[in-house]
Amino acid sequence: MGRIDRSGYLQSVEDALRKYVPEVSLMQSGLFRAMRYSLLAGGKRIRPVLVLEFCGLCGGDQEAALPFACAVEMIHTYSLIHDDLPCMDDDGLRRGKPSNHVVFGEAQALLAGDALLTMAFETMLSPESVKGVGAERAADAAGILAKAAGAYGMAGGQAIDLMSEGKKVSEETLQKMDECKTGALIRAAAKMGCALAGADSGQIRAADEYAAAIGFAFQIVDDILDVEGDAGALGKPVGSDKDNAKSTYVSLLGLENAKRAVEKLTETAAAALEPFGDDAAYLKGFARKLASRNY
Ligand code: IPE
Ligand code: IPE
Ligand code: MG
Ligand code: MG
Ligand code: MG
Repeated sequence: MGRIDRSGYLQSVEDALRKYVPEVSLMQSGLFRAMRYSLLAGGKRIRPVLVLEFCGLCGGDQEAALPFACAVEMIHTYSLIHDDLPCMDDDGLRRGKPSNHVVFGEAQALLAGDALLTMAFETMLSPESVKGVGAERAADAAGILAKAAGAYGMAGGQAIDLMSEGKKVSEETLQKMDECKTGALIRAAAKMGCALAGADSGQIRAADEYAAAIGFAFQIVDDILDVEGDAGALGKPVGSDKDNAKSTYVSLLGLENAKRAVEKLTETAAAALEPFGDDAAYLKGFARKLASRNY
């Protein structure tokens, strides 16, 4: 049974991502270059960490969960490449480097996103990945990610984000938008970790409640950092939301209310982990770190 030390999470993910999206000498090698450019530019890797941690917490094989952890990161990276396009947020900096379309052009950036989305499923459903966790758990995990990435989840949330530009939307709309565009993938990561370990329904419920709270908090912090943060530390522009007249927690409810909401959600997240007892200390610390991050 392959366990991965917590101190090795990031390196394991990095190595696996490099393996799954290699440098190739094919006619379309430029597409692979564009995919690797954004995928291997760093990033906090919080979604793969959640897959691995919940898998370990529920007694699963973390080595076997690694392709699934990478799949979430591929989809997340695709969402960032498309999010930065001129037709979306039109941002020129990502993960500390010029955005994908700035370097490779809009068409190639579009394709790099498409190909990363598809590569996620290729990676999860390869014979080796399926053999590692068993067909049923692999299908379960892939199904969770599919739903979270698409029209009911991230892509749906991005649509709500665009249609809310320049408008005063309700708090309910704002919450729905954040739950979909950001919360869905974070929740999926936690639930996939559980599914891959064959967790029981109580564990899955607790993981989902925790991830829903940190996911919502995560987007609110992102909105706060767009106002108060430092582009150097963030590796992406600040003030983008204002430039695009985005509806965010900060623009609608103000900085102080936004900060209070983050604190409350972080407490909710910690409380949700009760069924895991002392084993949940790492995830409680993780939630606090995300709440007070400056990048
Ligand atoms: C940024 O996500 C986009 C949001 C969903 C708020 P991250 O803050 O996780 O970005 P990386 O992966 O660390 O670059
Ligand atoms: C991003 O929200 C959500 C995604 C699904 C990519 P933002 O547009 O606020 O993310 P950043 O601030 O550009 O990273
Ligand atoms: Mg956006
Ligand atoms: Mg953006
Ligand atoms: Mg943002």
